[in-house]
Amino acid sequence: MQFPKNFLWGAATSSYQVEGDNPNADWWEWEKMAGKENSGRACGHYELYAQDFDLAKDLNHNAHRLSIEWSRIEPQEGKFSQKELQHYIDVILALRARNIEPMVTLHHFTSPIWLSAKQGWENDRVVPLFLRFSDFVVRGLAKHVRYWITINEPTVYTSHAYVIGAWPPQQKSYWKARSVYDHFVAGHIQVYRRIHQIYQEFHLPSPMVSISQHLQAFVPCAPKKMNAYAVSLRDQWYNFDFLDQIRRQKAIDFIGLNYYSRQLVDVQRFGIGNLAWDVCKNNCDPVKKNSLGWDIYPQGMKQVLLKTKRFNLPVIITENGICTSDDELRWEYVHGHLKNVYLAIQEGVNVTGYLYWSLLDNFEWDKGFGPRFGLIDIDYSTLKRTVRDSARKYAEVCKTGVLPDSHV
Ligand code: BGC
Repeated sequence: MQFPKNFLWGAATSSYQVEGDNPNADWWEWEKMAGKENSGRACGHYELYAQDFDLAKDLNHNAHRLSIEWSRIEPQEGKFSQKELQHYIDVILALRARNIEPMVTLHHFTSPIWLSAKQGWENDRVVPLFLRFSDFVVRGLAKHVRYWITINEPTVYTSHAYVIGAWPPQQKSYWKARSVYDHFVAGHIQVYRRIHQIYQEFHLPSPMVSISQHLQAFVPCAPKKMNAYAVSLRDQWYNFDFLDQIRRQKAIDFIGLNYYSRQLVDVQRFGIGNLAWDVCKNNCDPVKKNSLGWDIYPQGMKQVLLKTKRFNLPVIITENGICTSDDELRWEYVHGHLKNVYLAIQEGVNVTGYLYWSLLDNFEWDKGFGPRFGLIDIDYSTLKRTVRDSARKYAEVCKTGVLPDSHV
């Protein structure tokens, strides 16, 4: 299976999950307050990034997605740190020096404590504040960056932090969720326009700007009408509404797509909550699972990719990965999902890149350090890095652009 020329091959990370020592971020405070495992020094990537990028280079990666920690850049409201900006410039230059194309995310779940103290993304003022922060970062990095992700998984963050109440600030309010979501839409659109404006001002070639949207494969568990109806509603609400809204405003240059798993839809009775949330309880179509219990469903990758066709935009897989202690299963996962990317390309989807989640084992939010998503193992007591076999198999694909027929 031969992938297109100039395909972006690599992996993704986010600042808070790998850097360590981010005491000005809302999560840092929350971990302590909620009695969760602390992110602490995480992978020590803030210091060890050059070593990590050497490994990515050895693994033939030509692209890497990272994020900027807002709470480092603006630790107090309105006080911007040139020193931290310089750190991220150095990080990006370290990628460039290795011929690795950077993709930069501006918001990956964390916010500065001063912002969360004023209701974070619920507050109308968040939009101009996010714009001001983004402006500072983009002006500093524009020369070295072509690909931008404004916001990572706005629907996941909104649902986990404001509907399910599992993430800070642990709210369960439809109305709050609604305003957070709307602020993400508005924040994206304004930052999208600002990034383009800055590139014009600087006479730089046009950048590629998007969000990373988490897409699930919704699959009806029995062929009931209600299930089919729920699938179409969920597809619209959770998968495509955000993309539709920003497309209507001409504020998207490619689709950043995160895909992990499927949801088996089984609606118990007619009602808005049931249509929105009911899932199969009988394990009616058992498949292998990752270590967090999520279904492994590679054909879902093709399913969601085909549904992006109507946008008529290039697609970059900005995350896809598995947490497991079974590294052979990791390679089976990557192989199976890449095969479905290939099949979607054959059916006309313009996929231009694939970034595995994640380069390193890292801090999996409220789940702590247990889940192992990395191509590279981290020994958290010594911070020693060990490249996994799955990473070496993926490295062959990155090098040749060819996926072997079978994973064995
Ligand atoms: C997020 C990552 C997270 C990964 C695995 C994505 O939803 O962007 O931060 O670690 O999934 O759960």
